[in-house]
Amino acid sequence: MTKSVLMTSKGAEPLAKLKIGVAGAPRGTSFLAGMHAYEDRAEIAAVYDPDQRAREEFTTETGVPALEHYDQLLEQVDAIIVASPQHHHVPQAVAALDRGVHVLSEVPAAVSLEQARQLVAAVRASDAVYMLAENYCYSRPNLIVGAMAKAGLFGELYFGEGEYLHEMKGWHTDSSGNPTWRYFWQVGRTGHSYPTHSVGPLLQWFDDRIVAVSCVGSGRHTDPEHEIDDTILLLARTSRQALLSIRLDLLSNRPHLMDYYSLQGTAGAYEAPRAEGQQPRVYLAGKSPAEQWQPLETYADEFLPERYRQVAEGAGHWGADSFPVRDFIDAVNENTAPPFDIYAALDMTLPGIVSETSFYEGGAWKAVPNPRLWDAGVVSEPGKEAPLA
Ligand SMILES: NC(=O)c1ccc[n+]([C@@H]2O[C@H](COP(=O)([O-])OP(=O)(O)OC[C@H]3O[C@@H](n4cnc5c(N)ncnc54)[C@H](O)[C@@H]3O)[C@@H](O)[C@H]2O)c1
Repeated sequence: MTKSVLMTSKGAEPLAKLKIGVAGAPRGTSFLAGMHAYEDRAEIAAVYDPDQRAREEFTTETGVPALEHYDQLLEQVDAIIVASPQHHHVPQAVAALDRGVHVLSEVPAAVSLEQARQLVAAVRASDAVYMLAENYCYSRPNLIVGAMAKAGLFGELYFGEGEYLHEMKGWHTDSSGNPTWRYFWQVGRTGHSYPTHSVGPLLQWFDDRIVAVSCVGSGRHTDPEHEIDDTILLLARTSRQALLSIRLDLLSNRPHLMDYYSLQGTAGAYEAPRAEGQQPRVYLAGKSPAEQWQPLETYADEFLPERYRQVAEGAGHWGADSFPVRDFIDAVNENTAPPFDIYAALDMTLPGIVSETSFYEGGAWKAVPNPRLWDAGVVSEPGKEAPLA
């Protein structure tokens, strides 16, 4: 593999231009806008998708060569974006990490506890970077709220809400009526099957992890063919005793609301809009007029992080899709920890996996494991990491 060599802006160290491969063409295209901002430092080198038409469409749109086998892709790249259906994320990430190929994985990180353990073992045994592409953490309001929370404006945080309400009935079968991967992995099981968009921003704001969950559902009414209840409600306790309420609804007939959040702290509150035309709003005791909400934008100049002010043209999900790939490229090139490493990725993913057990036990509280304490993979180089310390 040959790498073209660049100089950094400081002119000190030569940087190799990163060759990135894409696995899963449709979602893979959403990373292109973010890539443009970094085209001097990285390039999409090849795409793999088992579906010929999907990979050829990607090639037509981008000029990037398409490959028929995943192994071929791994041979040709330094890094990979795993944008395949979610049950493939771990096997593909593990294969890449085993070869020293860096991984930016779509959400969720894993679909089972067993997969999660395999992933932890592979990350620990590899020198390559692993990052979860949790794009909802990068939306403008979520970044502003995160910075305000970090600066202590809301005081001590003790309650938060996250909701992903996305009527997706048309996505569960293809045009011939055959079930898609979503039929099995998103609505073919019950519990919270798509947690990271709702949980991720809250954990960033609360700087915390979930230690236990209780999961109940509304029953199956709208499209009872599917195993999942129409609405799933997950209550979560964090390690600092905060309470989170997380709702998932993939079936109910209603307009989308994929990014509803709220938080309550001792000094203030935040609420995202629930409908088009509304604005995100905050109340800060002693700062906001008494009993009155203020637009979140009041605080944007001061709190929106400089790094995320310029949204790449054409980036999806309110511009948030442009940032994960940039942070990933920087983590690889500058050898720094990515913002959403394996543990952050599993902190967002495991509550959903554990919620399935809770659901089938009538909402019984279930402990969510802390993946930092797993001993998987701590064999090859014990000095490299001391997860039990
Ligand atoms: N972060 C987000 O906002 C967001 C949005 C949409 C999808 N996603 C995630 O992206 C992933 C893909 O979702 P999608 O909407 O593109 O699904 P999709 O059904 O539209 O497309 C899936 C594609 O993956 C291909 N594929 C199947 N097996 C594969 C394999 N082993 N390796 C590579 N490609 C394979 C299929 O041929 C198909 O082209 C999922 O994990 C989903 O959760 C994330």
